[in-house]
Amino acid sequence: MAGVAGTAALAQMPADRAAATPRPSGGEYPFTLGIASGDPAPTGVVLWTRLAPKPYEPGGGMPARRVGVRWEVARDEGFRRLVRTGTAWALPELSHSVHVEVDGLDPDREWFYRFRYRDDVSMVGRTRTAPTATAGIGALSFAYASCQRWDEGYFPSYAHMVREDLDLVVHLGDYVYEYGIPADGGFRRTAVPEQLRAAPRDLDQWRMRYALVKSDPQLQAAHLAFPWMVTWDDHEVQNDYANTRSQYEGDITALRLAAYRAWYEHQPVRTPARPGAQGPRIYRRLRWGRLAQLDLLDGRQYRSVPPCGWGEAPACPGQDDPSVTMLGTDQERWLYDGFAHTSARWNILGSNVMMGRLDHDGDAGDLLWHDAWDGFPAARRRLTDAWVRHRVPNPVVVTGDWHSTFVNDIHRDFDTPGSPVVGTEIVGTSISSNGDGEVYGPYYGPMMRYNPHIRFFDGDRRGYVRCHVGRDEFRAELRMVDTVSRPDAVESTLATFAVENGRPGAHRV
Ligand SMILES: [Fe+2]
Repeated sequence: MAGVAGTAALAQMPADRAAATPRPSGGEYPFTLGIASGDPAPTGVVLWTRLAPKPYEPGGGMPARRVGVRWEVARDEGFRRLVRTGTAWALPELSHSVHVEVDGLDPDREWFYRFRYRDDVSMVGRTRTAPTATAGIGALSFAYASCQRWDEGYFPSYAHMVREDLDLVVHLGDYVYEYGIPADGGFRRTAVPEQLRAAPRDLDQWRMRYALVKSDPQLQAAHLAFPWMVTWDDHEVQNDYANTRSQYEGDITALRLAAYRAWYEHQPVRTPARPGAQGPRIYRRLRWGRLAQLDLLDGRQYRSVPPCGWGEAPACPGQDDPSVTMLGTDQERWLYDGFAHTSARWNILGSNVMMGRLDHDGDAGDLLWHDAWDGFPAARRRLTDAWVRHRVPNPVVVTGDWHSTFVNDIHRDFDTPGSPVVGTEIVGTSISSNGDGEVYGPYYGPMMRYNPHIRFFDGDRRGYVRCHVGRDEFRAELRMVDTVSRPDAVESTLATFAVENGRPGAHRV
């Protein structure tokens, strides 16, 4: 595990300092979007960057040919003890992004990495490898986050996150949003260049949207400090889309392909996530010794159109059709196979949307939110049945999407009174989406009386969830900032919940 001091020092090393380094060759600094690492394994990790000296121009200011980028991995922050180096191609068809899948590293320790292009050296990132499958039970500290609409606020949570002693950051989607951006930057009150304002439709526009979001120094610092595991939700393509279908415009195959490609180009993910004949395939599994298994889900690419309607709608018989799916056949098979063979004490699902029931109107009707698992109850039952059938130890779901916090008991079947609690879900709020407004508390808060399995709800604070996973307990702290209208917000813990080994359901501590 990293020392806190080392992590904090990295966090304080601003991207600007690297950008101010004199360049003998005269070109412009190419690492404007930062560097990142992700998808840690026992012997390796992915290193990412994108060469973009002019990130707000098509082509990023790079020549339309491939160029070599040198990468280095060292044991120490000063790069005196290099352990792996190489040169990767940055291709124009991938916007000169680089995804280096480093292997041959020792398990369960921290590493430092950087890139060189011509005379320019990137900032230094810190990453780590996972423990081996046979390692002692150990411990895991991670944070999870979601929903960072750029024009609805700054990202101060990331500045706080980098001061933590974390092994990993999990991002559960809505890393970018597909909407147009106002000229005055919305809540940020920062002038936005014209070419960045339009709702992205083609690949170059999506690339510029990622460039805008990745220009945020607090987000860059969080990527520098920890390896990330990233999945997507709807806004990486379009609000509430399902598979290739949109409620606004029907078939969105072309839009989705451009959006998925830009996502791959800007995230520290492995080759299967690259769109092509075999993919993108982004659902994947992290094993952390015998302590934890994290299954990161793709709840968008394969899902059925919600059978009872888009968004808030009454339940309907169509939802019980066994062909209705959230994850798709292949992902379900992969997931349950992982359940069958897990040897982990904590079995964590990273879900883009909420698994727990939210009854909107009690006995008065059947209103539910059909974009979440409530629109797919038969698929949800297959999943909870698989937990039970395979005796999966300690299922815990960590979730994004809602811009609100929920702590939920997951019942085996929400439609059967008295059905046992078989899992726990903690829905983290947004990094910035919904800004400082009072939006969801007044709307969803009064519904809690219909939902006794929801142990905690907070509608409108912004932040992330910090988790400490140990032998006996999964502890989750709800870390909240007091505003997203400024980057220097104050952070505090709103509440802390714990799940005890062998007892599904969280309790407040
Ligand atoms: Fe969101």
